[in-house]
Amino acid sequence: MSDTPNDILVHTEAGVTTITLNRVDKKNSLTRAMYATLADTFEAAAQGTEVRVVVLQGDLAIFSAGNDIGDFLQQPPASEDSPVFRFLRAIATFPKPVVAAVCGPAVGIGTTLLFHCDLVYAGDNAAFSMPFVNLGLCPEAASSLLVPQMLGYHRAAEALLLGEPFMAEAALEVGLVNRVVPPTECNAVAQAQAKKLAAKPLSALIETKRLLKKGQTAPVLERMAEEGESFGRMLREPAAREAFTAFMAKRKPDFSNC
Ligand code: COA
Repeated sequence: MSDTPNDILVHTEAGVTTITLNRVDKKNSLTRAMYATLADTFEAAAQGTEVRVVVLQGDLAIFSAGNDIGDFLQQPPASEDSPVFRFLRAIATFPKPVVAAVCGPAVGIGTTLLFHCDLVYAGDNAAFSMPFVNLGLCPEAASSLLVPQMLGYHRAAEALLLGEPFMAEAALEVGLVNRVVPPTECNAVAQAQAKKLAAKPLSALIETKRLLKKGQTAPVLERMAEEGESFGRMLREPAAREAFTAFMAKRKPDFSNC
């Protein structure tokens, strides 16, 4: 059993590692340090048999506001080894089941990481959004591949070009979410499902997940690398700089010159 008193809490019990995003004052936006912890946790949990299932959860009012925008302004990810990309590869290739409990807004990577989870339970207050274009950016986490696969092209274009939020019921309808429950029950439902999984033979879980994902992993990693290259470049360009500066200054961005 272990606890890390930090922006990311990690607790392992009876084969289930629960990761809690715990930077609620900043709406669980994710810093470089948090990505590094997430990457380390997934990489370690992939090994051996002590961990059989990972649960990822946020707060009852906020799952995650996505990347920390100040962090992006100050130290944009510079290479494939950056913590954010290391985390994305770790969750995309994680061999054991991952269960997510999502309540409140799930913005940017807060939504795209869910495409790499196996089971997703949502509070009825969950709101999913991928506002990359609004920030002068492009999709990440292979979402340009996985979102149209799941939602169909036109709904994907609406989600990724307009960047408008969609609610838990819509996420349920397209299959991004397994079940919608009251927010106060969401973590418990995820834990209950994780416990069921943890009681099953790990080798059968791993082999079944491998077969379910067969043929997907290589294109996902390839798309992540291509998106990562564009994303890294676009972070330094005028549109993103304007969007981030405007967010920090709490004003509307002006893209008339971008
Ligand atoms: N990066 C850094 N700080 C963030 C943040 C982010 N992505 N999202 C929220 N915060 C900070 C705010 O700056 C604010 O800090 P302050 O108290 O020091 O002023 C605090 O968290 C509370 O945020 P606020 O916007 O006041 O909360 P809200 O309840 O009105 O709205 C959100 C919640 C998630 C809808 C809103 O914060 C938001 O849209 N965040 C940005 C999402 C985004 O564009 N993410 C990037 C995706 S790539």
